[in-house]
Amino acid sequence: MRMRMMLVVVLSLYAVVGNADVVDQALAQYRSQGASEFNAAAGKALWDKSYPDARGGEARRCAACHTADLRQPGKHTQTGKVIEPMAPSVNPQRLTDIKFVEKWFLRNCKWTLGRECTPQEKGNVLVFLRKM
Ligand code: HEC
Repeated sequence: MRMRMMLVVVLSLYAVVGNADVVDQALAQYRSQGASEFNAAAGKALWDKSYPDARGGEARRCAACHTADLRQPGKHTQTGKVIEPMAPSVNPQRLTDIKFVEKWFLRNCKWTLGRECTPQEKGNVLVFLRKM
């Protein structure tokens, strides 16, 4: 009886916490895949860094599409389409859907870095982004 009450309380808390929960879930998963302590500064460094384009085109950066100021809308470098701000503080939709996050990590890391991001790198980026 007691246990059941506690379960209900815990589940309702999960519903309330919302996006913090999605990020925490992702971090727990990355840890189970071998990542250790996450570091927001390392996440910011990955975000700001320029990566050479293997085909000799312009260097690639996360900030190229999402802008360096995460509270501002970005613009897709290829299509010119507006990208809503990345900062959850101004765009509450961000980091609320783990499937969406993983889908775009995959695409954007491959495009920008020329490879998939490691669980450690994804976690670092998430702890950096979630504070913005
Ligand atoms: C060529 C343009 C482009 C680049 C470069 C780019 N992104 Fe994105 N990113 C997008 C688009 C387009 C979306 C999906 C549309 C949207 O979310 O507004 C997106 C969405 C995301 C999301 C989903 C966030 C959420 O929960 O809504 C994450 C996380 C993300 N990008 C991370 C990165 C990281 C990390 C890098 C650098 C390794 C990066 N992006 C580089 C275009 C880009």
